[in-house]
Amino acid sequence: MTFKTLDDADLSGKRALVRVDFNVPMQDGAVSDDTRLRAALPTIEKLRAGGAKVILLAHFDRPKGKRVPEMSLRPVVGPLAALIGAPVAFADDCAGDAARAAVAAMKDGDVLLLENVRFEAGEEKNDPEFAKALAANGDLYVNDAFSAAHRAHASTEGLARVLPAYAGEQMRRELEALELALGKPQRPVMGIVGGAKVSTKLDLLNNLVGKLQFLAIGGGMANTFRYAQGYDIGASLCEKDMADTAREILQKAEAAGCKMILPTDAVVARELSPGAVSRVAPLAGGAIDADEKIFDVGPDTLREILAAMGEAKTLIWNGPLGVFEVQPFDKATVEAAQEAARRAASGALVAVAGGGDTVAALNAAGATGDFTFVSTAGGAFLEWMEGKELPGVAALSS
Ligand code: 3PG
Repeated sequence: MTFKTLDDADLSGKRALVRVDFNVPMQDGAVSDDTRLRAALPTIEKLRAGGAKVILLAHFDRPKGKRVPEMSLRPVVGPLAALIGAPVAFADDCAGDAARAAVAAMKDGDVLLLENVRFEAGEEKNDPEFAKALAANGDLYVNDAFSAAHRAHASTEGLARVLPAYAGEQMRRELEALELALGKPQRPVMGIVGGAKVSTKLDLLNNLVGKLQFLAIGGGMANTFRYAQGYDIGASLCEKDMADTAREILQKAEAAGCKMILPTDAVVARELSPGAVSRVAPLAGGAIDADEKIFDVGPDTLREILAAMGEAKTLIWNGPLGVFEVQPFDKATVEAAQEAARRAASGALVAVAGGGDTVAALNAAGATGDFTFVSTAGGAFLEWMEGKELPGVAALSS
């Protein structure tokens, strides 16, 4: 995949329209996690250093083409200015009079944040006229929002057709890391996939079994696989109607030479609460009582996962192995994450993770810093793991 980066651009005096992902967690109207703001800093700094005017375009939540005051991006201004160490101006719309006036008032090196681009109906429709209205305020377009690149919207895709388009620094880092993990990885490659349901990760599992040498399955979806094989899983979460599909995935893995690592033992309890009475039970032999539920993989399974990790040169991780938010069911996730972090820090393993809960689980394990790369993306990371082309990325490379 080839795309232009900021190193290829003449920035001086240019109005750079930069699509960032500021869809950040907020609590009581204030930013509660600034990871995505920090992710945008290298691009903002590079543009300012090059003498560009930095005009930030972003969405927040899903206002569906209408102005929803609670979904304004204004609360982002303060935390962003503090991180940049310079003022950040704000315009009350993204393609109207307010944006035009604010852009006209900018000097080289200034930073301006435009209001939520999803307040406009043309955004999600990828309306070419709306893309042109956005483009009127820029000389070049920088897409730094990998995590929104699975959306074919005006600000993530359409703009790349009307302005010279570049990948921002975060976009470049994401694409390079993903190439390292699945595009041209060092083998053997291991996947860890967890999460509640097989049904939400079907495409992902089907794509991965054709590409990986090891695939460990944890979380609720592992129950469905074991159920499909005839194991007794008590009252555990399970999608019984996915049993045929689970068996097909296992067959496909076998044909492709992908070793599936499914739980051989589990941590079970009657209720999911902190410090709940729990025990380790083998999966075989009907050892799990009818009213018991699986909340984590057991120590034997963890040993098998760690042994595979010891052989792997590349690891791609999506989804926790157990209910990591509730102790003691965090044990396998935390230990596997810490081992992956240790191996990545020593240079023995390329460890890449992403998608929703995964980042929270790695943070809980204190493992994020030593991973080779942790994606800021949720849905986009999943679609990329499914082997799909992301419209925002494709538009940059065409
Ligand atoms: C995300 O938070 O994953 C991205 O910002 C995309 O948001 P969306 O799912 O509302 O398009």
